[in-house]
Amino acid sequence: MLELVGPDATRHVDWLAMADEFGRDRIEGGDLGSRTIAELRDPNTFAAWVSLLRDNERGENLSDGFVACTSRWIVVDDRLVGSVSIRHVLNDYLREIGGHIGYAVRPSERRKGYATAATALALDDCRRLGIDRALVTCDDTNVASATVIERNGGVLEDIPNGKRRYWVDLTDEG
Ligand SMILES: CC(C)(COP(=O)(O)OP(=O)(O)OC[C@H]1O[C@@H](n2cnc3c(N)ncnc32)[C@H](O)[C@@H]1OP(=O)(O)O)[C@@H](O)C(=O)NCCC(=O)NCCS
Repeated sequence: MLELVGPDATRHVDWLAMADEFGRDRIEGGDLGSRTIAELRDPNTFAAWVSLLRDNERGENLSDGFVACTSRWIVVDDRLVGSVSIRHVLNDYLREIGGHIGYAVRPSERRKGYATAATALALDDCRRLGIDRALVTCDDTNVASATVIERNGGVLEDIPNGKRRYWVDLTDEG
């Protein structure tokens, strides 16, 4: 069963195993900010980061230029398989590039429908936040991400500078 859970410092070992699969020191869409996976190996640094993510969900302790954001980890059978971010409002950067929702699934767990299902749950969160039209973007070359968005009802608006910008209407259901 797939569920979205809040960031949780007790999942440190599982999180590191997932992070290491990405094969570099960053996770695109992983809400690491300026932190690296190497830095997050330290339990205290990890716990502080988890605490910051929870603050950011309440709109507190935001870095300059960042908006309130809900970070959720994708869990299947109590194992971390990925992460999803839900930005509560759009700023200029998010309107052009980032969109409302970002996600990543660990390489060993791809092609199982997890990103598609997690995005559907994230869109439910967007509805609860009062968003009536969610912007979800991906690189024009990212076939997997484009498929995830289209399976969630995304309607392509345009592709400026190689970025596909889709809108999902959240007013017609739920
Ligand atoms: C994009 C990403 C989140 C998709 O995760 P996922 O859990 O594999 O997605 P799904 O299983 O829901 O796959 C959706 C569909 O995309 C298509 N797809 C997935 N990977 C594909 C690939 N490598 N080539 C072509 N199509 C692909 C498939 O049609 C797939 O469905 P199917 O397996 O039933 O045929 C994952 O590839 C990822 O984490 N990539 C790196 C980070 C990233 O790009 N994030 C998005 C930024 S916008």
